[in-house]
Amino acid sequence: MAISAIIGGQWGDEGKGKVVDLLSSNVDVVARYQGGANAGHTVYKDNQKIVLHQIPSGVMRSDCKCLLGNGMVIDPIELVKEFENVKSKGLTIDNIFISMNAHITSPIHKLIDINSENKSKNKIGTTGKGIGPTYVDKYNRKGIRACDLLDSENLKSKIEVQINRALNSQQISSNDLKSIKDELDNFFNACIIIASHITDIIPMVHGTNNLLVEGAQGTLLDIDHGTYPFVTSSNPSSGGITTGLGLPLNKIDRLIGIFKAYTTRVGNGPFPTELFDQDGEKLQNIGKEFGATTGRPRRCGWFDAPLANYSIMINGFNEITMTKLDILDEFDEIKVCTEYECNGKRSKNLSTFINQFEDIKPIYTKVPGWKCSTVGTDSFNNLPKKAQEYIQYIEQILSIPIKHISTGPKRNDMIIR
Ligand code: GDP
Ligand code: IMO
Ligand code: MG
Repeated sequence: MAISAIIGGQWGDEGKGKVVDLLSSNVDVVARYQGGANAGHTVYKDNQKIVLHQIPSGVMRSDCKCLLGNGMVIDPIELVKEFENVKSKGLTIDNIFISMNAHITSPIHKLIDINSENKSKNKIGTTGKGIGPTYVDKYNRKGIRACDLLDSENLKSKIEVQINRALNSQQISSNDLKSIKDELDNFFNACIIIASHITDIIPMVHGTNNLLVEGAQGTLLDIDHGTYPFVTSSNPSSGGITTGLGLPLNKIDRLIGIFKAYTTRVGNGPFPTELFDQDGEKLQNIGKEFGATTGRPRRCGWFDAPLANYSIMINGFNEITMTKLDILDEFDEIKVCTEYECNGKRSKNLSTFINQFEDIKPIYTKVPGWKCSTVGTDSFNNLPKKAQEYIQYIEQILSIPIKHISTGPKRNDMIIR
């Protein structure tokens, strides 16, 4: 299937895990290029739900290599928990390989993340997984990399240095440090467990033409192109792939943007089509919109075409997969934001007003609901006429083909056009 990438088009949780699981059937390698334990990708094995945080969703296929790229930040404690979880589901961890250049998230990073959120007046609503502080150390050239786990004495002294830096800059207190004593022991043990998976993954990235790249988070959470400062600290958009995996731009054949049939966001920050009414509650309840990593309720709103147009532009998507169409089954009327208005000016692309969110007003078009179940539908012709029209309408306003439509959480609840 050549080299394809699955990328979140909105604010994350679009259903990337499910799509990767489906498309990895004939793939040799699935690789993550950014993010870390902040991600929560839901897949199903038979009827069992599995939430993956750092392990690529290709782990569902026993013959598929799973790479954790250099652009990721790896939390050894969380990764060992994930190893145990996937093993308990009868899956193998033998094909999981961690780039020796990936950066390591320590218990100190998690403390700094949580302390910084607690102190801040303008909270981002992070996952508390230490993502920002780990990338800060990386870009400050003070990071600990996976290759450093291979020498445990050296690792201990690097952690000492990290602790002293955090204490001296008052990012953590000596009481904080006492509270993570056991956690630090856990950390060193976990580092030993994951060490045998650390290697040079470049030959594996370049050794196949059957590679599926798995994005985490989403384009509007991108540190450069998202709703800054309410973003994550990596590049989920397609630009992150090349640096995060050592995969040149000209090797990527197919960029697939994943979009929900509506919009959600977890954490703080602007959200033009957010609903505060019964429709919002209905999307949240029917869509079971609670974070896969933190359990927090996700904010819900209508599909936002100016946001999607921006995302398509930034990523260079060739096609779209639309997920969770079935969540709209019970609505009499569905709204789509087709344009933004801002200080008397209109635009169909979010890029026009990317730093003026306070003033943006979404302009909606109403489309009729279909009022019957689409759950599990696997052919476009079997969708109710009005659901077909909803898809065609969005295709038309975004000028991009919607090649896959997801109609339920399971692997085969999917229309392939
Ligand atoms: P990811 O982070 O992009 O992988 O997405 P999450 O796993 O965080 O959130 C997507 C949620 O929607 C998960 O609970 C999936 O099981 C579920 N899901 C994915 N696609 C569909 C769909 O088409 N219909 C329904 N009802 N649920 C879906
Ligand atoms: P997946 O891969 C949705 C959000 C957090 C917060 C912001 C910064 O499952 O789509 P961070 O902990 O990264 O510093 O938090 O980003 N966030 C996500 N939202 N899905 C995710 O991942 C997310 N990962 C981080 O809620 O607003
Ligand atoms: Mg998720």
